[in-house]
Amino acid sequence: MISSQSSALLSAHITVRYGSKPPVLRDAALEVRSGEIVGLIGQSGSGKSTLALAILGLLERRRAEIEGSIQFEGHDLLALREQEMRQLRGAKIALVLQSPLSSLNPALKIRTQFKEAWHAHARGSKAECDRAIRAALDAVTLPSNDEFLRKIPSQMSVGQAQRVLIAMAVMHRPALLLADEATSALDVITQSEILALFRDLNRNYGMAILYISHDLPSVAGLCDRVSILHQGEIVESGATRSVLLNPQHEYTQRLMAAVPKFLDPSAVAKAASV
Ligand SMILES: Nc1ncnc2c1ncn2[C@@H]1O[C@H](COP(=O)(O)OP(=O)(O)OP(=O)(O)O)[C@@H](O)[C@H]1O
Ligand SMILES: [Mg+2]
Repeated sequence: MISSQSSALLSAHITVRYGSKPPVLRDAALEVRSGEIVGLIGQSGSGKSTLALAILGLLERRRAEIEGSIQFEGHDLLALREQEMRQLRGAKIALVLQSPLSSLNPALKIRTQFKEAWHAHARGSKAECDRAIRAALDAVTLPSNDEFLRKIPSQMSVGQAQRVLIAMAVMHRPALLLADEATSALDVITQSEILALFRDLNRNYGMAILYISHDLPSVAGLCDRVSILHQGEIVESGATRSVLLNPQHEYTQRLMAAVPKFLDPSAVAKAASV
């Protein structure tokens, strides 16, 4: 939950083009305040992942042209050099993606993958590294014993693998976690467990989360505020409850009308945490 004094942690205002095609994002404006959970909703192809990759400084590799500014903790990320971005990525801003098993190295033990994640942004003794690994596993309520750390990804369930990825992402206590469709590949029970985990991480560590999804009910249940992305533009932003209960933009109205018939759209909106 955010306090009224919360300041902008991230403030992006960008236009992105891939090659000579029309812009994929047009003057898209997104704000995430310290310690809050913001939902980014938009249909497939609307530019959600492009926005996340831009924030992480990973677009250039895709031959994208980017204009505007992305302010994060007082820095304009677009003005940083790759080496400076590398120090931020994984330490201050972390990413969790949709398919946990393909994001992990299938051949390496979990312990080895945690060690690599720790050494990317920290120095210290083996004991300090072990302590950090156990703390990260505790934070996502996974076992931190040797038996678990010896496993390779195929020996875990998808839900466990997603927790491992989240543990790696939050190991360095980032100020901002980007979750790009992080629950979309999971069954409903596992999905609700991961949503509860995001809520705990937000409350316990004050970690801000940008939760990217097409799933309105999960956004309604998790997010303090929501931004609606439509054809490359943020068409509406505000407190989740007010945006979903009283959508102003025609696209948001259509989205609410498309909530599956067995779910009452007003109940979905009322489930919003604010
Ligand atoms: N590397 C690239 N080169 C050219 N076009 C791209 C590239 N990456 C994405 N696009 C295009 O940009 C648009 C936005 O893609 P993006 O992946 O950001 O959408 P999305 O909202 O994340 O979609 P989804 O919900 O399916 O993940 C799409 O039309 C896509 O085809
Ligand atoms: Mg995407």
